[in-house]
Amino acid sequence: MGKKGKEIVKAKLDEVIKDLLAAYSDEWLAHYQYWLTARWIRGLDADTLKGVLEKQSADELVHAGKLAERIIQLGGQPVMHPNQLLEKAGCGYKEPPKDPADLKTVIQDVLNAEACAIEYYSRMCEKYRTTDLVTHEIFEDLLKDEVDDEEEWEKFLAKP
Ligand SMILES: [Fe+2]
Ligand SMILES: [Fe+2]
Repeated sequence: MGKKGKEIVKAKLDEVIKDLLAAYSDEWLAHYQYWLTARWIRGLDADTLKGVLEKQSADELVHAGKLAERIIQLGGQPVMHPNQLLEKAGCGYKEPPKDPADLKTVIQDVLNAEACAIEYYSRMCEKYRTTDLVTHEIFEDLLKDEVDDEEEWEKFLAKP
């Protein structure tokens, strides 16, 4: 990152990178969780859920990409080995239910992941509001997306 770009970051770089790495890890884990779940599930409504899982899985990967770019821009390194994704993650990973027809659990697991992301991004938006405007904007974009994601899944919950 350039001289002026660095100068305007008032937050501690190590801390910003650490916070970005947690988000980066969670996005990869959500990407993988949704991607795998889309392939695993079976049953009456599975096709509808598959479509949404596929789409959101792709979105989470785009999120990971934005976070990686900012990490590198700040002079940090994205997670270089997948072993470390779980260590660095804040929200973690939930494997698809053993029963591929248990769509209720699928929906609840995704909602939990989205709720955790919303909470984290909301906290990060507050934290960097005045100390790192570029990072703040990334967290804000991601926050908006996760709020949309949650809304989309809550509609499934409301179905009888
Ligand atoms: Fe995301
Ligand atoms: Fe999401």
